[in-house]
Amino acid sequence: MSEQTLSNLSREERRFEPPADLAADANVKEEAYARADSDREAFWADAADRLDWGQKWDQVLDWSNPPFAKWFVGGTINAAVNCVDRHVDAGNGDKVAIHWVGEPDDDTRDITYAQLKDEVSKAANALTDLGVKKGDRVAIYMPMIPEVVVAMLACARLGAPHTVVFGGFSADALASRITDCDAKVVITSDGGYRRGAASALKPAVDEAVEKTAGPDGQSQVRHVLVVRRTGQDVDWDDDRDVWWHEAVDNASADHEAEMHDSEHPLFVMYTSGSTGKPKGILHTTGGYLTGTSFTHWEVFDLKDDDVYWCTADVGWITGHSYMVYGPLANGATQVMYEGTPEKGRWWQIVQDYQVSIFYTAPTAIRTFMKQGREIPDGYDMSSLRLLGSVGEPINPEAYVWYREVIGGDRCPVVDTWWQTETGQIMISPLPGVTAGKPGSAMKGLPGVGADVVDDDGQSVPDGSGGYLVLTQPWPAMLRTLWGDDQRFKDTYWSRYPKQGFYFAGDGAKKDEDGDLWMLGRVDDVMNVSGHRLSTTEIESALVSHPKVAEAAVVGAADETTGQAVCAFVILRESAGDGGPDIVEELRKHVQKEIGAIAKPRQIMVVPELPKTRSGKIMRRLLKDVAEHREVGDVTTLADSTVMDLIKDKEGSGAAED
Ligand code: WT7
Repeated sequence: MSEQTLSNLSREERRFEPPADLAADANVKEEAYARADSDREAFWADAADRLDWGQKWDQVLDWSNPPFAKWFVGGTINAAVNCVDRHVDAGNGDKVAIHWVGEPDDDTRDITYAQLKDEVSKAANALTDLGVKKGDRVAIYMPMIPEVVVAMLACARLGAPHTVVFGGFSADALASRITDCDAKVVITSDGGYRRGAASALKPAVDEAVEKTAGPDGQSQVRHVLVVRRTGQDVDWDDDRDVWWHEAVDNASADHEAEMHDSEHPLFVMYTSGSTGKPKGILHTTGGYLTGTSFTHWEVFDLKDDDVYWCTADVGWITGHSYMVYGPLANGATQVMYEGTPEKGRWWQIVQDYQVSIFYTAPTAIRTFMKQGREIPDGYDMSSLRLLGSVGEPINPEAYVWYREVIGGDRCPVVDTWWQTETGQIMISPLPGVTAGKPGSAMKGLPGVGADVVDDDGQSVPDGSGGYLVLTQPWPAMLRTLWGDDQRFKDTYWSRYPKQGFYFAGDGAKKDEDGDLWMLGRVDDVMNVSGHRLSTTEIESALVSHPKVAEAAVVGAADETTGQAVCAFVILRESAGDGGPDIVEELRKHVQKEIGAIAKPRQIMVVPELPKTRSGKIMRRLLKDVAEHREVGDVTTLADSTVMDLIKDKEGSGAAED
């Protein structure tokens, strides 16, 4: 971030006061900050009390062995019971839990809490019949259909940690996750709908399972449970594969749920880090459910008659925390949509279902901004009362457009900062308290310790930038990286050992009022459309291609996606000039290795890469090229002429999709 940008930020003068009626009736008011400050643990204990526990906890927080936290120690709880059964028991069985909207136009389903309870119980019985026991891992690779929610909750009910793999990831990515967490059952579907056409999922599962086979030819995956969604042809292994409509539909709807220890693993969610190997973020039960359900009620000011819609895919943490666990634990009515953002379709859904709370990502907002306000202006969106944003910094212009055009200039916008690791929203305005400031996530929520510090861990003064840290443990915090306690300590807790801060990997700035502005990642992690991708992971994918000798990947600013993947590759001598289709060939290769989301926007075949004398690639210089800037200081390069060779290649290798 340049000095120029930093000083521009503090000149944001626009403020949006909370609507008076919302402020008067807000779930969380100003006093919460002081209350949480005076006794943080009591504050989180109150939040946990909103849930139904089997055995109540003896201790709110055990932080005697940092960074390994235990929350609500001694308590027992079942996440599925909290998300489903307790609403039915309270007499709300007829309330709609999910208004599901399929991608093909007339395909919709409304699912009540009573129906959801039956489905989850049946699925739990079916999984038990397939040999799934408490503690076993289950991988889920599915489109946005109600069965994915049922599958997750059935796992939670049994205490079998799930790992949901985004349906856009490749067979290789799925295989590495199955292997890392040793999943013994995979739940999938024949396919899903993407942009109007059926696209297959089962073949990727078949391939992934084959890849996980050991020397004896046996995979650890014993069964694949398959939902029929598109009706397309599938290869079938009679011993291994089971249809959902046979196993689940015929199972009993009676299932007695066991209460699990508060620290029992709930799920593992893989995310990119600055090395190639994805990290398995482990979330446990009591603290995670407390953090997500409380913040969902707090930040979105959820009321009984709200219709809530989070557009995230269930394959990401936002889908876990703010589509499945948070809203369902709160007994909310929500919309779930199978498709991707398309002109007008979202606003049609807002109008049809009278959506009142809407949560999406800046990349989608910028896409709609580009298409013009005539499209949303054609719909009646007066039901909306609150808007949220997540995944990357929202530029002030996009914030103001969102507020005016989508929110009719009456809905507060909450810019929510958090991570896969934090599990719950950490930094955000409170809609009934905070005067919103376009572009700023404002400050830590009550009970959250967030600060911006310098290299020594000293809090920076207002008006300066530094590193974002979390200074206090919080209920939904990750407990470790699956199978790798050391990497957990090294990655998040080694930067400020004296203070014991959690280092988030983001740069941030405090403006003149002390409000926080997120400035993006400071490590080798990119943020493309609100999704984290590691530069190293994509470099490894490129280098695994037989024609590539070396690769460097940078995230370059992109108007729509925030950042875009730009790759610089050196070919092996044996590959000659790579042939006329080399760029397309390599882009497809990355798609196959990781998934379409990682496909480089641009690949430049270059003769050399800029390196320091110690051999470290200077990504900063490559970023200058990718962002069409004057190349910066080259004096630390081992060979200062390299950048001239690279710049000669500029303009080649751009791609359209
Ligand atoms: C990274 C976490 C949290 C769910 C989606 C992404 C960036 C997230 C914001 C925001 C600025 C944001 C950060 C963070 N980020 N929200 N409101 N303002 N940046 O989860 O894949 O774990 O990525 O996303 O850089 O570290 P994730």
